[in-house]
Amino acid sequence: MSQRLKDRVAVVTGAGRGIGYAIAERFAAEGAKLVLADLDPKTLEEAATRLRATGAEVVTEAGDLAKQDVAERTIQAAVKHFGTLDILANNAGGGILRPFLDHTPDTLRTTIDRNLWTCIWCCWYALPIMKAKGYGRIVNLGADSVRNGLFDHAAYNAAKGGMHGMTTGLAREFARDGITVNTVAPCVVNTPQLAEVAAVNPELVRKVIDVVPMGRPGEMHEIASMVAYLATPEAAFVTGQVISVNGGTTML
Ligand SMILES: NC(=O)c1ccc[n+]([C@@H]2O[C@H](COP(=O)([O-])OP(=O)(O)OC[C@H]3O[C@@H](n4cnc5c(N)ncnc54)[C@H](O)[C@@H]3O)[C@@H](O)[C@H]2O)c1
Repeated sequence: MSQRLKDRVAVVTGAGRGIGYAIAERFAAEGAKLVLADLDPKTLEEAATRLRATGAEVVTEAGDLAKQDVAERTIQAAVKHFGTLDILANNAGGGILRPFLDHTPDTLRTTIDRNLWTCIWCCWYALPIMKAKGYGRIVNLGADSVRNGLFDHAAYNAAKGGMHGMTTGLAREFARDGITVNTVAPCVVNTPQLAEVAAVNPELVRKVIDVVPMGRPGEMHEIASMVAYLATPEAAFVTGQVISVNGGTTML
């Protein structure tokens, strides 16, 4: 694989499993040094062990990134261990998908915390480092459901829509600092968790796949590939974009 990220330092949030792990794997294969972060210390360590076995330089930070101090510690880990920070992939998140009125106050708050506050705090601590060095790549994992108002996604879309909105605002604010800010918006993706959802709510999974013109979910590597491109120096002129990776679901 090409070494477009050779010696670049990247923080990947929610890297213990799923798309986050696929992004970390891709970054490592392209030569990046990694800080992996996740709420779940067990999957996080397993992910780090697998990547170290491939020769990657990896440190881990476990904790809830919706908490300000955890986000600060995670971003600072890049500076402490590798001396700098070049790339932030805000992937931590995940849906609590149900009709809006079936949410509880707790599931509503968790949805916003997990998908939006994690991103806000990590950007808040990463941007001063990137601005000082005149270089940075921020790539958020948003959701194509923001564009098409997918079934049972209203609360989740409130969080991901906030992330999409912050993308354009930050991109403009830091456009002359060598920093790009973009969002990759997937449709339904073939993760191990999709199978878990299908086991309890096969109807929802069938409906969300049915809206994809290609008639299949995305693959994790197809999402990671777009994230990796946006994280490279060659993507210097792409900023403030929400880029769907969605089998043609939305064509705006
Ligand atoms: N899978 C899909 O179909 C799909 C579609 C569109 C968007 N997305 C988005 O892509 C991203 C990855 O999706 P996935 O399916 O791999 O999700 P996932 O639920 O499998 O993994 C998310 C990871 O983030 C971690 N995480 C969650 N909240 C956290 C917090 N507060 N602090 C630290 N870590 C936290 C989890 O522990 C988990 O390891 C998410 O942001 C998700 O919303 C996924």
